[in-house]
Amino acid sequence: MTFLLLGDISQSTLDPAGVGAERIAELFHWMLSGGVLIWLIVVGLAVYSVTVPGRHRPRLTKTLVIGGGAVFPTLVLTSLLCYALAMLPALHQPAPKTGLTIDVSGVRWWWRIGYRTGENERVETANEVRLPVDQAVEFKLHSEDVIHSFWIPALGGKVDMIPGRETRLKLHPNRVGRFRGVCAEYCGTAHAQMAFDVIVMQQADFDQWLRDQQQDAREPAGEAAVRGRELFRRKGCGACHTIRGTDAGGRVGPDLTHFGGRLSLGAGIKTNDADNLRRWISRTHDVKPGVQMPAFKSLSDRELDSIVAYLEQLN
Ligand code: CUA
Repeated sequence: MTFLLLGDISQSTLDPAGVGAERIAELFHWMLSGGVLIWLIVVGLAVYSVTVPGRHRPRLTKTLVIGGGAVFPTLVLTSLLCYALAMLPALHQPAPKTGLTIDVSGVRWWWRIGYRTGENERVETANEVRLPVDQAVEFKLHSEDVIHSFWIPALGGKVDMIPGRETRLKLHPNRVGRFRGVCAEYCGTAHAQMAFDVIVMQQADFDQWLRDQQQDAREPAGEAAVRGRELFRRKGCGACHTIRGTDAGGRVGPDLTHFGGRLSLGAGIKTNDADNLRRWISRTHDVKPGVQMPAFKSLSDRELDSIVAYLEQLN
C-alpha cells in the first residue's frame, strides 16, 4: 500500500541519483552480466555432457573439472574482488571539512535529523533529509535504542547505526528530485514503516530552506490554529515534542517546529495532509502498529480539527 501511495518516489538502486549509487549500480551490472554469461556456459556444458553420445575423453573431463571448477572461478572472483576494492576509496572519501554535515539518529521507529549550522548550533527536524545537488555531504549516524541501518538506495550504500557508536556515510547527490530512504536493518515491529523522504534541491533553494528551518515556529493564524496551539499545550503534547518558540520542548518524539512543511508523516508512510494527520493523532496504532506515541482517542472532533489546523500551518 505504502509503495502504491508513494509510487512516484524513486527508491531504486538501478536508477542512481548520486555518485556512490552510480558506482554500485555499475558493479551490479558487471556482476549480473558476468553471472549470466557464466551460467549460460555452465548450462551449455551440462547439456552437452548429457546429450553427447559415447564416452567422454578422460583428459578433457579432467581439464574441464580443474579449469572450470577451480581455475576459472578463482580468476573471476579475484578480478571482481579487485574491481570492487578499487571502488571503495571513492565511496568512502571524507567529505570536505567545509561541507555540510548532518547528524541522523535512528529511533524506534523514526529518524531524528540535525543540521549543523554553526560551531555549536544545530537545527533539528525529523524524517526528511534535504540536500543540495552536486555537493558532497557527510552523515554522522547514531542510534538511540537498537541497531538501525541508514539507506538511501538512489544515492548510495547503507551504513548501520549502532547504539553508543558513531558511524559515517558520505553521499554526493547529482540529480534534483525526491527519493525514499529506508531502515535496512530489522529493528522491531515497525521496521518496515521506518522510512524518510530525501529531497535533493538546487543550492539556492536548499540555503533558503535551511534558513527557514532555523526560524522559530510561526505564530498561529486563524481561530482554529490558535485554539490548536492551546490544546497542544494543555494535552501535554509538549512533553514529547518540541516546537521551537513555544514552551513545548520534549525530546522523545519528532521536533514539530516546521511540521507542516514536511511531505509525509509517520516516518515516510503517509502523505502529510489534514486527513492523515487526524487519523494519526486519534488512531495512531491503526496507522502504524507498534508506534510509541499514544493515540489521543478522547479528543472531540473539534479539538482534533484545531490541533490539526495548528500543526499543518507550521511550515
Ligand atoms: Cu530501524 Cu529497521
